[in-house]
Amino acid sequence: MELRDGSYFIQNVQVTDIADQFGTPVYVYDAEKIVQQFKSLKMAFSDADVKVKYAIKACSNLSILKLLKRYGAGADAVSIQEAQLALKAGFEPGEIMFSPNCAEFEEIEEAVKLGLVVNIDNISFLRKFGAQFRSSYPCSIRLNPHIMAGGNYKISTGHSNSKFGISIYQLQQVIEVVRQYNIRVNGLHVHTGSDIYEADVFLKMAEILFGIAADFPDLRFIDFGSGFKVAYSEGDLVTNVYDLGIKLTQSFREFCRQYGRKLELWIEPGKYIVSEAGTLLVKATVVKPTPSVTFVGVNSGLNHLIRPMMYDAYHHIINVSNPKGSQKMYTVVGYICETDTFGADRKLNEVQEGDILAIRNAGAYGFSMASNYNSRLRPAEVLVFNNEPKLIRERETFDDLLKGQVDIGL
Ligand code: LLP
Repeated sequence: MELRDGSYFIQNVQVTDIADQFGTPVYVYDAEKIVQQFKSLKMAFSDADVKVKYAIKACSNLSILKLLKRYGAGADAVSIQEAQLALKAGFEPGEIMFSPNCAEFEEIEEAVKLGLVVNIDNISFLRKFGAQFRSSYPCSIRLNPHIMAGGNYKISTGHSNSKFGISIYQLQQVIEVVRQYNIRVNGLHVHTGSDIYEADVFLKMAEILFGIAADFPDLRFIDFGSGFKVAYSEGDLVTNVYDLGIKLTQSFREFCRQYGRKLELWIEPGKYIVSEAGTLLVKATVVKPTPSVTFVGVNSGLNHLIRPMMYDAYHHIINVSNPKGSQKMYTVVGYICETDTFGADRKLNEVQEGDILAIRNAGAYGFSMASNYNSRLRPAEVLVFNNEPKLIRERETFDDLLKGQVDIGL
């Protein structure tokens, strides 16, 4: 989204026109930005045979999946339903990395039936997998490198107290199970968290994996997960993917030489690809001055974008209806029946009731974490593609709230 000639645009479409056409609240995604982010990763890692497995959980709309598929992405799924969405969007089963955590073993069996790349993250399942499939179907192994990384505790996944992956200190057990059942380990995987700006974290993980790889002669790929950080507020530190790309591919190539074979380098970005491309448009329902602050209430809330309340995440807010207005301080709040703050003490161009506010960087973990709390309907989704806004998900209706409820005649 950019300010041009006194108005906000996504590509050549005026943002307020999108709100007029589709109503609010609405998630709007910029296809060009998504493609640009995807291409920048391909470029950053161009010295290796990088496969970008888009983390579906970030934004799982079929049109976004299809867009990324069109540009050559693979997919990363953490539930069988995400994998089914990817298949529906046209991904080949072999392009889909399946990394469930604490899901039922039946999901792994289903993944084998579907032909996905199966990633196993505990020794119990590795044993079950070996007993059932032996060398007939390969699997990858998710390791926990015992590295504390990521923007906050809730999204850190590679530290010693994390439920994810098999501890590198249990490697001997892994090797025993692999040998016992003659399992073909085709990949090693780590994902240490989200919002990691330090390239060093990825390089450290890489070193750990490279040290382990020699014990697994059948590898086809090494998957470094993701966690690339984007800027939520001005001046935020971000992962320099170009610097990381150069350093990681260099050490990867050196590792491949030692391993004796060229392997594929995989990454699984979600946030980096879709976060900045997405904006949640909401309408100011009420301007409410109080003795301490002036609230702007909007027709959305933590049910549509939970990141501010769940992670104390900062999302930039812009009054797109009044780009030239004088600035005032507001606290922007949602309509949910508990503390529901999108942004406290924000400078916004003067807000009138009915104005459209744009909540930025909402493309990742926005709609995909939305709920019907307070029996509110989930928003529509719109993709701006080739300068045209296209509806890619209808706004829910009251019938959606009733769907599946069983009337037992009370
Ligand atoms: N791979 C695996 C195995 C993951 O668990 C995740 C994210 C990713 C890749 C993608 O990470 P990303 O590139 O998006 O950082 N809801 C939180 C983020 C949770 C991430 C969970 N796993 C948020 O809104 O910040």
